[in-house]
Amino acid sequence: MIIVEDLYKTFGELQVLKGINCHIKKGEIVSIIGPSGTGKSTFLRCLNYLERPEKGTIIMDGCKIKARSCTKKDIYELRQKTAMIFQNYSLFYNKTVEENIMLPLLTVQKKKKQEAAVISENILRQIGLPDKKRSYPSSLSGGQQQRVGIGRAMAMKKEIMLFDEPTSALDPALRGEVLDLIRVLAETRNTTMIIVTHEIAFAEKISDRIIYMDQGRIMEEGPAWQILSEPKEGRTKEFLKNYIDYQDSSSRRNSVPFSAK
Ligand SMILES: Nc1ncnc2c1ncn2[C@@H]1O[C@H](COP(=O)(O)OP(=O)(O)OP(=O)(O)O)[C@@H](O)[C@H]1O
Ligand SMILES: [Mg+2]
Repeated sequence: MIIVEDLYKTFGELQVLKGINCHIKKGEIVSIIGPSGTGKSTFLRCLNYLERPEKGTIIMDGCKIKARSCTKKDIYELRQKTAMIFQNYSLFYNKTVEENIMLPLLTVQKKKKQEAAVISENILRQIGLPDKKRSYPSSLSGGQQQRVGIGRAMAMKKEIMLFDEPTSALDPALRGEVLDLIRVLAETRNTTMIIVTHEIAFAEKISDRIIYMDQGRIMEEGPAWQILSEPKEGRTKEFLKNYIDYQDSSSRRNSVPFSAK
């Protein structure tokens, strides 16, 4: 369970988050959509304190952090629960695929090498890259690199995964394999996922709920069919109009997200 209360973040004079409030249930898959520069990444980064909000409270599975009084220990605990997957993969390029997956298991989770190797082996199968174990990231395609990044988070068994546009750096042809992996994760694990994405069709398929953010606020949220087919706010309608893959369809009413199947 994630609860965010009255979260504010400014960069200098620029007020980016203007009082974000939301509740996300355990195992829920939530996509955040909205115009560029609206604060989606900033919100995600505040959730695990990569950016420090000035005001507000974040509660994550019992770990409660108040912006004004948070300690290093609070931040450490919060980060133990979350994995963040960025658009640029953030792999170690001087290490093999296997080493990339094993490293946090050894250094952060203090696992024995043999155990880490077994976990890594398993993950490589799940992400469909068992034969790339000894390869270096630079010899993989972007889609494969992103799958390694996701695999690394899977190996750590994080309860909460935060995705910031996981496919936006990829050619359209490579996006499918990463989206498929996220979809499988959504179907098979009880991981809570928050996904910032511009892929509206994907958000629709995967999400229990879509949040529409605009100018530092949550303007509207609800089941995918409602936000995409019957948005209440003018700004949501305007935003969605710009997406070619957005079609007004009442069939959305009957669509069931993966995690609910
Ligand atoms: N480290 C920073 N220092 C100063 N300004 C920042 C910083 N990070 C973000 N901003 C500003 O905060 C605003 C929100 O940025 P953010 O990256 O959260 O938007 P976004 O909704 O993720 O946009 P996009 O869809 O383009 O990724 C922007 O005006 C951006 O320039
Ligand atoms: Mg962003």
